[in-house]
Amino acid sequence: MMRPMKLAGDYVLFGNGALEYLKGINGKKALIVISGGSIERSGYLKIIQDYLNEAGIESKVFRGVEPDPSIQTVLKGAEEMKKFEPDWIIGLGGGSAMDAAKAMWIFYEHPQFKTLEDIAAPNVIPPLRNKAKMICIPTTSGSASEVSRSIVISDPEKHIKVGIGNMEMMPDIALLEPGITASMPEHITADTGIDALTHALEAYVSNRANDLSDTLAEKAAIEIFKYLPLACRHGEELLYREKMQNFSMIAGIAFTNVSLGIVHSMAHTVGGKYGVAHGLADGIILPYIVEYNMQSEEAKKKYDNLAKILGGKDFAEMVRNLNKELNIPANLKEVINNDEDFEKNLEYLATIAKNDGCTKTNPVIPDVEGFKELFKKAYYGK
Ligand SMILES: [Fe+2]
Repeated sequence: MMRPMKLAGDYVLFGNGALEYLKGINGKKALIVISGGSIERSGYLKIIQDYLNEAGIESKVFRGVEPDPSIQTVLKGAEEMKKFEPDWIIGLGGGSAMDAAKAMWIFYEHPQFKTLEDIAAPNVIPPLRNKAKMICIPTTSGSASEVSRSIVISDPEKHIKVGIGNMEMMPDIALLEPGITASMPEHITADTGIDALTHALEAYVSNRANDLSDTLAEKAAIEIFKYLPLACRHGEELLYREKMQNFSMIAGIAFTNVSLGIVHSMAHTVGGKYGVAHGLADGIILPYIVEYNMQSEEAKKKYDNLAKILGGKDFAEMVRNLNKELNIPANLKEVINNDEDFEKNLEYLATIAKNDGCTKTNPVIPDVEGFKELFKKAYYGK
């Protein structure tokens, strides 16, 4: 059956002044979900609360979302919501803060849910928005959670990390204010930015791709390729920040509709097993998979097209050079550095990656043996 495309929630606002939208929203109470102090130090939390105040909305802040948001934090936030009864939830931060806010929203709307298993597949998320609507304000340019139907939530007690996707979770409003990303340090800009590039590329060659997603993904890939090194080197230049923010969002609209590929399957796996940061894992694995996907004629045509537009020849080589420019290591060994453990777990890693939800939309689908070979290549750099 044909899958419907959903291009973000009610509204997406981007560019200088996007946050001013908050001055005109209707409501009574907003709960703002954040990770840590940097958003307070930058002054943006206050700006946001002042705008809400102007709109006559009382706001409260939930702090302490960790880099891999846990179900325990999510349930704590949901409890806070049940007491405060907001009619707006605002996810303010990187992917973790936005994902956590979206997850808290589910438990707030549906108090019958008590555990991570309750909201994970095969269970289906019932309609949201009976109590609150969702605004997302990204402070990094990578996850695109502000325009995505997905969240990733961990349970450290049970050692699991679960990806959940449902269009109900598409935020109603996405506000992209370029200045809010300006304080990101260089390595975070690189890691989150290469995640955005991976989203664009995996959506572009997805076996579910269509004319609409291709239009978004192709343009996003080209612009991120151009602007990511500039945003890393000249983080103070707002134009580069704005381009990264916009094209990360555009890549997000593409991938949330046509899904991703095995760079993400493998990155999720090494992230779960060895704690490699998501964007970093994506960046390291990406050139190996571009090379692997070249055996699909359709994917090769698309990579060749990008190479041509960007003035190069071999797209895998171009990704390798981009990684060098961004100081992203050439192989997983450099970040995991435990050959014995890696070899021992190879079968396990390959099995988990094979079963990852992103595998089925890759242009070429490896079996477990195929994944073992790919993990070895990406680990040893061969
Ligand atoms: Fe990603």
